[in-house]
Amino acid sequence: MKVTVVGAGAVGASCAEYIAIKNFASEVVLLDIKEGFAEGKAMDLMQTASLNGFDTKVVGTTNDYGKTANSDICVITSGLARKPGMTRAELLGINAGIVKSVTSNLVQHSPNTIIIVVSNPMDTMTYLVHKTTDLPKNRIIGMGGALDSARFKYRLAQALEAPISDVDGMVIGGHSDKGMVPLTRLATRNSVPVAEFLTEERLNQVKEDTKVGGATLTKLLGTSAWYAPGAAVSGLVQAIACDQKKIYPCSALLEGEYGLNDLCIGVPVVLGRNGIEKIVEINLSEAEKEHLSNSAAAVKTNNANLEL
Ligand code: 2OP
Repeated sequence: MKVTVVGAGAVGASCAEYIAIKNFASEVVLLDIKEGFAEGKAMDLMQTASLNGFDTKVVGTTNDYGKTANSDICVITSGLARKPGMTRAELLGINAGIVKSVTSNLVQHSPNTIIIVVSNPMDTMTYLVHKTTDLPKNRIIGMGGALDSARFKYRLAQALEAPISDVDGMVIGGHSDKGMVPLTRLATRNSVPVAEFLTEERLNQVKEDTKVGGATLTKLLGTSAWYAPGAAVSGLVQAIACDQKKIYPCSALLEGEYGLNDLCIGVPVVLGRNGIEKIVEINLSEAEKEHLSNSAAAVKTNNANLEL
């Protein structure tokens, strides 16, 4: 299993680190445009191999896509990250050009690859990959929901004063502050609905804290977060590489599912060796449907700004 991660910045390096540590891939190629940067990160990571007990070979390269040839999975993290006070949508103009050219280089060298998009605005960048390649829709996946759901579980565990391992929950919708739809109705603590433990007011607070999860960290760090995004990507990569058939919310091309068409947005999917093996349609409440439809409208407004 060969995995390429494009962009050796904080998010890309974290992805490569978590994938390597989990020890399921034979090779991770880290590619960056900055001379020597990916090579340095790869060497540093390889020097943790004997300490962390992994055999994954991590290779760095300065923009040599030849080294990425025949990757089974490619992760795109390239582009600018948010600065405090910025929305993800503000990155569209600059990141669209970068994602388009990275995608074309990747597909040229790995025509059978599965692509995972992390660059923001993620749902629109995922749609851009659909529009600019011939890859089947099951092989194009946007990473957002797995991260937003991890942040949701963190906030739920805090509110419940429970260990995170006791908590389950999912966020669907667009990967934006207003677009996320945290499904508090379906969240559980060890199979008991969380509404049994928390007031509506407290649950609404959990929802709001989840939606601004990325913005909160951007304010604290001065740039966007990397540990949880990296871990979320490694979870998706592992589910595909190990054919786990796990359900994750991912940005997927919808063709009628959830009453939505011609956009990529976060919905639960089954991930296995073929990428998105199934889009799971769950029954939503009227309020959740309305929130998802507003979120889809916002994603479509961003998509309309793409120069295809
Ligand atoms: C975040 O929410 C990177 O968009 C990403 O942290």
